Amino acid sequence: MSTTILGIESSCDDTSAAVLRDGEVLSNRTANQEAHRLYGGVVPEVASRAHQINIIPVVDLALKDAGVDKQDIDAVAFTRGPGLIGSLIVGVSFAKAYALSLGIPLVEVNHMQAHVLAHFAEPPKPAFPFLCLTVSGGHTQIVRVRSHLDMEIIGQTLDDAAGEAFDKTGKLLGLDYPAGPDIDRIAQQGQPVFEFPEPQVPGLDFSFSGLKTSILYFLQKRRKEDPGFIEKNLADICASVQSRIVSILMNKLSLAAKETGIREIAIAGGVSANSALRAALKATGKEKGWNTYIPKFEYCTDNAAMIAVTGYYKYLNGEFAGQETEPVARWKV
Ligand code: KG4
Ligand code: ZN
Repeated sequence: MSTTILGIESSCDDTSAAVLRDGEVLSNRTANQEAHRLYGGVVPEVASRAHQINIIPVVDLALKDAGVDKQDIDAVAFTRGPGLIGSLIVGVSFAKAYALSLGIPLVEVNHMQAHVLAHFAEPPKPAFPFLCLTVSGGHTQIVRVRSHLDMEIIGQTLDDAAGEAFDKTGKLLGLDYPAGPDIDRIAQQGQPVFEFPEPQVPGLDFSFSGLKTSILYFLQKRRKEDPGFIEKNLADICASVQSRIVSILMNKLSLAAKETGIREIAIAGGVSANSALRAALKATGKEKGWNTYIPKFEYCTDNAAMIAVTGYYKYLNGEFAGQETEPVARWKV
């Protein structure tokens, strides 16, 4: 007998639905919310309303793509947290109502655990134990993964997330939100000629707030000397900031690999779409003899396929949620 899972993701500004059959992704549909570009960041109220509008069409599309009838779904997996409460409420309420009406179980999913398990959406899949650097707009973590459902954070950011470092730098440079993809693209025309300091944080933890401040002071000083400084040097500034963010991430990941002796190394989350980080992981992996795992682009940023994958493993393990489940803004893996 086969198992079909409907996955629902609505933790931030993407409304996504996916269908998974016996661990294989049949469909993965996402509605992005362009409105936030105008505001320079995600506006929670705007995000909740857009989820409300998008969720039914997105689920219908995912079922249609998969060629699956809703009567064939065995369970609804949904993101319970962490994320924006108003956004989560839409997905959680939808999942509860859908499961109730179909008489099928609910599976609640931790969004950060799902980013890690995005590696199981398609081969090649990492072998256990592996390390995963999960880098998104809200989190930066090094996770030691012992099995699908047994993972532990061994390092994390003390302040801003890596994605935030990209997005806040973008704001200083006058780029639209989210700035990560633009910085990545613009950096390809430049060279990392400007030196930004590497934060001195002990152990496997990260800090990005000092970097943001040093970029701000650097830009203020240079613009005083030349008001056109940013426009003339945009590509080099982007390349320099990106190169520093990537070196901060890679240095900690190398330390984690050394300390744990683990050589199966993965990256996940929105920032794992970054071309410089992907190249650095491949190069360092080659040098150090790691097996490296980089998700396909559609599984890097927020998506429901990773929610369905995580839901599938929890389903097999008999981990179900009741109708009393509610969203949580903060939730550790
Ligand atoms: O995982 P994600 O889609 O949502 C969260 O759970 O936060 O990550 C979004 C973050 C944003 O900060 C965005 O700027 C960043 O991922 N991002 C990138 C790239 N693509 C997305 N950062 C750097 N380079 C990229 N190519
Ligand atoms: Zn995410």
